Amino acid sequence: MVSGQMRPATDAPADGAGTAGGVKLVTVLGATGSVGQSTLDVIGRNPHLFQVEAVTANSNAKALAQMAVRCKARLAVLADETRYGELRECLSGSGIEAAAGAGALAEAAARPADCVLAAISGAAGLMPTLAAVSQGRRVALANKECLVSAGRIFMEAVRKAGAELVPVDSEHSAVFQLLASAEPEAIERIVLTASGGPFRTWSLDRLERATPEQALKHPNWSMGRKITIDSATLMNKGLELIEAYHLFSVAPAQLEVVVHPQSIVHALVGFRDGSMLAQLADPDMRTPVALGLSWPARIDTPTRRIDLVELGTLSFERPDETRFRALGLARGAMETGGMAAYRPASFTNTGTSTPFSSRTATRSALVRTPGGSGTPNVTRVLVPTAVVWGARRTVAVAACAEGASPATASPRMSRVIVWCDMGERLPRSAPEEEPP
Ligand SMILES: NC(=O)c1ccc[n+]([C@@H]2O[C@H](COP(=O)([O-])OP(=O)(O)OC[C@H]3O[C@@H](n4cnc5c(N)ncnc54)[C@H](OP(=O)(O)O)[C@@H]3O)[C@@H](O)[C@H]2O)c1
Repeated sequence: MVSGQMRPATDAPADGAGTAGGVKLVTVLGATGSVGQSTLDVIGRNPHLFQVEAVTANSNAKALAQMAVRCKARLAVLADETRYGELRECLSGSGIEAAAGAGALAEAAARPADCVLAAISGAAGLMPTLAAVSQGRRVALANKECLVSAGRIFMEAVRKAGAELVPVDSEHSAVFQLLASAEPEAIERIVLTASGGPFRTWSLDRLERATPEQALKHPNWSMGRKITIDSATLMNKGLELIEAYHLFSVAPAQLEVVVHPQSIVHALVGFRDGSMLAQLADPDMRTPVALGLSWPARIDTPTRRIDLVELGTLSFERPDETRFRALGLARGAMETGGMAAYRPASFTNTGTSTPFSSRTATRSALVRTPGGSGTPNVTRVLVPTAVVWGARRTVAVAACAEGASPATASPRMSRVIVWCDMGERLPRSAPEEEPP
């Protein structure tokens, strides 16, 4: 089941990469974000193991420059070209190269390095991460949207380039570890855990009145705003189902979600002999990040150690799909080809008291997606959201329907989920489901 694209690590650095003494060169995409900062923390604690080649961000010039100086990066790149002058000014005299723009971002991702840690948020991470993949590098993948929005294309690119993919999303890192020595035919099911988010025990009525501030108070994890909001609706867990589907080449029916409020067990794998293995760790992204950088070796992290007696109880519940519809929607998408489209949201930026609702923030529709017998490519999957309810922006939609699942009724019809925030409401008149 763990397919060839997840090769065990070799000691040999990628072509042209590597430094003297076996120190690994690492490029961090999305360095100013939550996962990016965890990555630079791990690297900073292990200077004998890692050196930073390039760091990137979207528009946060000052923070990026400070980080680049602190971690002694060779190159700092912003996606937003309008902030180039500011970045150059912040880096003047440091000897660190500055660049900006989409092309520069892809070039940074493709520069010789032993590992590219992909932690840009959203579908914006797709093209730079594909640039890293195309070089046959190790890609430590935090950005789930690469798989959620273009899973089939992404995995084909990994296979074609002979890249090595190590998942960093904590649940998928757990599964990756649990499957390391498993025979594919022995694997019965994969169980991803979900904390349940801040609204786990809220009634539907109360949910309707929830605010963004409340949604942003995750009980266990400290993360970026988008993923925190997605965790409150359980959409994040839905995306993780799709992510696991592509990463581990399992049938949708082999993937389960259980709510585990303590967030100590990150995933479990059940085998044909009735045994089940679990991976446990305190909820701290530095553990899966360290593994992504160092696999198959394990390195020191300051992650709090688990005290089982102090924990006392680990509990598990079935997710309530009446209150949290996102899981069912994601499953529907996965079963018709595995896709979802994220509409860039202002909700996560405004922080206003706009009412929050997991029910109205999520919609799904059956749409005609690019099919045909050829291999889909990224250009073909950039479908305007106009296809789904006339929204203005363009989002990435996967074109992996064809032959992806025996449940696919028609190769050209796929269920697409579009979700957004309450700051950018979906049109009120939008039907729940709309045939093409
Ligand atoms: N946070 C977690 O604990 C966690 C756990 C598992 C998986 N993940 C996944 O990891 C990814 C990153 O999450 P995060 O929580 O670290 O996000 P975050 O804190 O919001 O950080 C996002 C990073 O991406 C950059 N970025 C945003 N838009 C960009 C664009 N259009 N072009 C180039 N760079 C852009 C940001 O730069 P600026 O600072 O300039 O905006 C920032 O460096 C997501 O896919 C998420 O689902 C996160």
